[in-house]
Amino acid sequence: MLRIAVIGAGRIGHVHAKTIASHPDATLELVCDPVGDAAEKLAALYGARAAKQTDDIFTDPNIDAVIIGSPTPLHIPHLLAAAKAGKAVLCEKPIALDMADVTAVESELDAITTPVMFGFNRRFDPSFAAIHKAVGDGKVGRLEQLTIISRDPAAPPIEYIKVSGGIFRDMTIHDFDMARFFLGDITEVFAAGQVLDPAIGAAGDFDAAVVTLKAASGAVATIINNRHCASGYDQRLEAAGDEGALFADNIRPTTVRFSSATQTDAQDPYLDFFLERYADAYRLELSAFIEAVENGTKPPTGIDDAIKALRLAEAATDSARSGKPVTLA
Ligand SMILES: NC(=O)c1ccc[n+]([C@@H]2O[C@H](COP(=O)([O-])OP(=O)(O)OC[C@H]3O[C@@H](n4cnc5c(N)ncnc54)[C@H](O)[C@@H]3O)[C@@H](O)[C@H]2O)c1
Repeated sequence: MLRIAVIGAGRIGHVHAKTIASHPDATLELVCDPVGDAAEKLAALYGARAAKQTDDIFTDPNIDAVIIGSPTPLHIPHLLAAAKAGKAVLCEKPIALDMADVTAVESELDAITTPVMFGFNRRFDPSFAAIHKAVGDGKVGRLEQLTIISRDPAAPPIEYIKVSGGIFRDMTIHDFDMARFFLGDITEVFAAGQVLDPAIGAAGDFDAAVVTLKAASGAVATIINNRHCASGYDQRLEAAGDEGALFADNIRPTTVRFSSATQTDAQDPYLDFFLERYADAYRLELSAFIEAVENGTKPPTGIDDAIKALRLAEAATDSARSGKPVTLA
């Protein structure tokens, strides 16, 4: 039984707390959040302890592992403090807002010996994982083109956007990781950013983007992102090879279809939002983390994946601003 503390009682903190509380091999030991009564409220839902400061958590002998769901600028400080105290860590994406923050602590990151996994939960989505396995098994032959569509139902508050690091670091980072998961090393990034909501433009960000990534293998990935989508949380993936293609479509709560004189085949809206759509992925991500910690094996995602995804996000940001492709060394 892995005793876990969740750091940050915000949106993703709630997801992790709920996932831990319902996992047979984990216990939610503590929730930490310095703001208001956020920690107390979330901890109370699952009978866990609450704390306002992280200090005591890292030395608490009753805590085996921490899940870091604090704001992105705190990921590295929390990760280093937890790892130095010997705790296993599952840290949310992205690792940082800036590569310079990673480079500044490179030797400390290299020195980490405790298990560290990063929250690229979409790798664990059963449909995406099945496609990944089928591609690996050669089902579509040589993978030539990967298409990832990821549109949120609505943009987060502008206060979140302002400190998020921008669409590529905050949102597309999941898709950069998926592209790497399927295609391996990426050699070129070309991004077209769109400002559809003037408030997001005024905050210096894009709220939609199309990114193409060339892989060393010769395959090309296309990522389509939008912070809003009239039809809900639009999450699709297609892997096309020279012998076939695999498709993962949106998921609905039921398979019921409605037909009438004015419409045919109308269905329930897509599962909405990430908590619902990726509930299985968060559960399977947690299972993979627990398995790695308990068996002493390498977690399926790590610091290297987090850094490579962030590099792609920075390249995409540069490309969208300059209008030119960016070649990666
Ligand atoms: N993997 C995913 O699907 C996913 C989804 C959403 C967010 N995220 C990531 O999770 C992180 C948090 O995002 P969010 O949407 O939950 O944000 P949020 O603003 O809802 O929550 C962050 C929480 O951290 C708390 N916090 C602030 N300082 C803290 C400190 N020193 N110690 C502990 N807690 C502190 C805040 O009070 C807040 O409750 C971001 O890095 C984001 O990119 C990942």
